[in-house]
Amino acid sequence: ALKGRNLISSGRSPERLNIPHHKKNQFFLNMYSFNELSQQFDQYFAQRHFPAAPANLYNAAAYLPQLGGKRVRPVLCLMSNELFGEINEHTWKVAAAVEMFHNFSLVHDDIMDNAPLRRGQETVHVKFGASAALLAGDVMLVKSYEFLEKIPAPTLTRILRIFNQTAAEVCEGQQMDMDFEQPGLTVQLDDYIKMIGLKTSVLLAAALKMGAVMGGSGPGSQHHLYEFGKHLGIAFQVQDDYLDAFGDPEKFGKQPGGDIIAGKKTFLTLNALETATATQKQKLEELMRPGTDPQQRVAGVLQVYKDCGADAWALQLKQRYFDLAMKHLDETAVISTRKKNLEELAQYLMGRDH
Ligand code: IPE
Ligand code: IPE
Ligand code: MG
Ligand code: MG
Ligand code: MG
Repeated sequence: ALKGRNLISSGRSPERLNIPHHKKNQFFLNMYSFNELSQQFDQYFAQRHFPAAPANLYNAAAYLPQLGGKRVRPVLCLMSNELFGEINEHTWKVAAAVEMFHNFSLVHDDIMDNAPLRRGQETVHVKFGASAALLAGDVMLVKSYEFLEKIPAPTLTRILRIFNQTAAEVCEGQQMDMDFEQPGLTVQLDDYIKMIGLKTSVLLAAALKMGAVMGGSGPGSQHHLYEFGKHLGIAFQVQDDYLDAFGDPEKFGKQPGGDIIAGKKTFLTLNALETATATQKQKLEELMRPGTDPQQRVAGVLQVYKDCGADAWALQLKQRYFDLAMKHLDETAVISTRKKNLEELAQYLMGRDH
């Protein structure tokens, strides 16, 4: 299906491409898969988007986008557009804006989380220093808005409204995540879900909604696709928290046990505190005391998680939100055969190891 459909051949960026206008209708399926879209998007996005000087700023900004990543959010945006028709040339720009915003948020997140590794490489602040990383993040955020500049006026306003609300919500979620680090603070499952909904899910949801807007969908579909992304994003972050503890560090590309070292209140912590025996609880509290050797803390906490059956919780929690997500995808008013790629992407995200 990919033959002759490579949108970004010869290294050209989508803005200079004539996106092919196949004569196709609702019933003739000629849609791109996750692999096709992520490869096409990657060819464009992994190019350098920043000037040369000052090198310490722009090399830091250019570093993370070209390190790869799954490109989940831009693909969600492109697929969502494609539910309703040909991919609009400006949708590539919205997809790039979303991915650049995501990369910006990772740069600042790694400073906040004191993370040494990302995508299997040194984080931006480790490689370039904290000041350069802060400024690189800022200039990446500006770049994400620059991608949106050429969207025609009435659509631009709608896109900006979604984008701006989402950007503020991500900050709110990130602040909650940091607030929850306070040792001894009890966090309820509802608080955790609210927090991950803001720091992670709203961006997946917005990517889908903006794709739908670009594809010319009606408000009903926009709503259901947003809610599909919101619930999928929660399942996605549950998987991220699970992998942070139990993933294969080689594949995951981040510091093993980073959340335990930072004292994050993930669903693993909450569930352990709820189901542990008095002895296990005491052990957990000791391990989480400030000053404990990080490696000892990780090993000890992982053992308690395992003893309490963390695998089963992760599956259960993920499944609950995955099912809610699929309900909203079902309710999106598009014939079901057109939704197959999105469904497969959602499935893949549930079982991912990186
Ligand atoms: C990492 O997102 C941050 C979270 C919200 C969990 P991804 O897992 O999509 O990271 P990349 O872009 O593929 O590296
Ligand atoms: C990140 O959550 C969410 C944002 C970057 C907004 P995490 O802190 O869990 O993401 P990773 O694990 O560092 O990728
Ligand atoms: Mg982090
Ligand atoms: Mg974080
Ligand atoms: Mg994480």
